[in-house]
Amino acid sequence: MSNLILPGLVDIHTHLRVPGGEHKEDFATGTAAALAGGITTVLAMPNTTPPLTTPAVLEETLQKAQHAIYCDVGLFAGAGPEQTDLLPKLSRYTVALKIYLNDTFGPLRVEDLPTLIACFKTWPRSKAIAIHAEGQSVAVGIGLAAAYRRPVHFCHISRKEEIEVIAAAKRQGLPVTCEVTPHHLFLTEADAERLGPLGDMRPRLATQADVETLSAHINTTIDCIATDHAPHTLAEKDADNPPPGVTGLETSLPLMLTAVKEKRLTLERLIELMATNPRRIFKLPLPPDTQVEVDAQTRYTLSNQGLQTKCGWSPFSGMAVTGRIRRVVLRGEEVFKDGQITAQLGSGKVLAEN
Ligand code: DOR
Ligand code: ZN
Ligand code: ZN
Repeated sequence: MSNLILPGLVDIHTHLRVPGGEHKEDFATGTAAALAGGITTVLAMPNTTPPLTTPAVLEETLQKAQHAIYCDVGLFAGAGPEQTDLLPKLSRYTVALKIYLNDTFGPLRVEDLPTLIACFKTWPRSKAIAIHAEGQSVAVGIGLAAAYRRPVHFCHISRKEEIEVIAAAKRQGLPVTCEVTPHHLFLTEADAERLGPLGDMRPRLATQADVETLSAHINTTIDCIATDHAPHTLAEKDADNPPPGVTGLETSLPLMLTAVKEKRLTLERLIELMATNPRRIFKLPLPPDTQVEVDAQTRYTLSNQGLQTKCGWSPFSGMAVTGRIRRVVLRGEEVFKDGQITAQLGSGKVLAEN
């Protein structure tokens, strides 16, 4: 029995791993995981192998996505030092540009000012720029938003000082927005110790004080909840030098419904953070006849069993939540029901040319 109807949710930060990382996730398993989590649109990150920084990789990715996705997918173009002249070409079939300023999984990085300036000058003003910035790099992003008078979106903000400097920038009227992940709202560095490599990601889990400060900004400074779903296999996580990243598509809505139950935010605010604001910031279309049916009262324990993600594990396994996703309808078709994907492969659309 469902007792709550939500709009199709949007995850603006998903790693689908195509091309090059299909053993971790592929278009079918990643978009199935999205639907299971009540998410009908995902934005896919460009730190693939090779990264999405050239028209050739864009073309390959678009071709592979056609007929292979269950939910709607928009692609991020990636910024690299050698490819800024290609950005206008990439922009036509991508929804936004991603700039990595700090250390993370894969080699995609921008570490010099000339490249940063070129990105801000060449990327079309009609499309968003999202930045992976940690610590003082957040101030670099704010400076660029001010200097070029254009919106900058900050990915996975996780620390007290970061959210505070973004709040200060917003008070000055600067066009900055930010997302926070459920793992940075629900887990701390104590969980990182307990979970080992399964609790390691970039940005890392933070202190209790950081988590409390983020929570205090949930009704004000934070614009979006985004998963940073970053699957790696258990074998990779068990090996030497495990890669950073955790899954999140299937646990994000149950966790946020639990936060609603605990009165940390209202249901209306959840919808703003997980659907309305992401669509506005990234100018994403609203699919017609699309809804997520939820049983908001069911209490249960999150488990690795039955996950749609290819890597098959979650850092939240064992955590009690309130709120189960029962059914998802996309453009009038039932695409998920009671733990099963009922969609036809290809029911998702690639978002292009908006
Ligand atoms: O932990 C992370 N993993 N952070 C990122 O920014 C990238 C991601 C990945 O691609 O695995
Ligand atoms: Zn990142
Ligand atoms: Zn990421």
